[in-house]
Amino acid sequence: MNANSDQRGVADEALTERHGDNLYPLQFEANFGEDELVLDVPAGVWNPTPHGVHLGIVLAGLDFAGQHVLELGTGCGLHAILLARHGARRLTLTEIDDAPLANARHNLGKHGCDCPVDYVVADWTHVPGGPYDTLVTNPPFAKSGKRYRRYFIDTLILDAHKLVRPGGRLVFVQSGMADVQRSIALMGENGMHVRILGETDGPFRDYYAEDEAYLLEMASIPGAYDVRDGERFERLIVFEATLPSD
Ligand SMILES: C[S@@+](CC[C@H](N)C(=O)[O-])C[C@H]1O[C@@H](n2cnc3c(N)ncnc32)[C@H](O)[C@@H]1O
Repeated sequence: MNANSDQRGVADEALTERHGDNLYPLQFEANFGEDELVLDVPAGVWNPTPHGVHLGIVLAGLDFAGQHVLELGTGCGLHAILLARHGARRLTLTEIDDAPLANARHNLGKHGCDCPVDYVVADWTHVPGGPYDTLVTNPPFAKSGKRYRRYFIDTLILDAHKLVRPGGRLVFVQSGMADVQRSIALMGENGMHVRILGETDGPFRDYYAEDEAYLLEMASIPGAYDVRDGERFERLIVFEATLPSD
């Protein structure tokens, strides 16, 4: 499924400020199909980017009825609200510390979500409980803080079997800059059945230009981005990976 242009138009308006450390305070408004969200994002919590918006548009077209869904790195709770509105029976939301979880709780309450939610501080895939029916995430990449930038994507794929039940699924967004071929190969090597649920592009974030080494690294990834009228756009892909059922 591709993002429809009306939805993208509304989301793009909300994304005009794209600079800095991406942790500045913001009221973020966007439509995801029928779902209109107005999120309060305080300083220190990740501002939704085109990656998260694209994932949200795809999630708004899916059905999570009866599922216990785990979201890693929920940030302001944008995807959690959509998961709750699209049938999730229970949510487990993780973050690296308490502040984003408190913000996600606030935004879920503000949007009238009443499905049961567990808010858990956990370091990436080291999450207690499960197995979950579906794992959803927009993993850190450009600002992963790791020398090996794909750390969060690779560990997500490698550890998925510890968190997701056999036959359950992983739904995540990644940039073309994070090497799409490598993700597809790794999911295949782990016996997952892979589908692309949505593909679009988004303008480069201003903070990319602040890191010359990052730009050079990205220029070496085939198909990572496009240049149109002098502006660079990255590919954004939402994957669904279904785990083997045995
Ligand atoms: C790309 S942001 C996505 C946030 C939100 N889901 C969205 O799309 O707007 C990645 C999130 O992962 C969180 N994060 C970073 N390192 C983490 C870790 N080791 N364990 C759990 N979450 C982490 C960040 O705080 C951030 O909120």
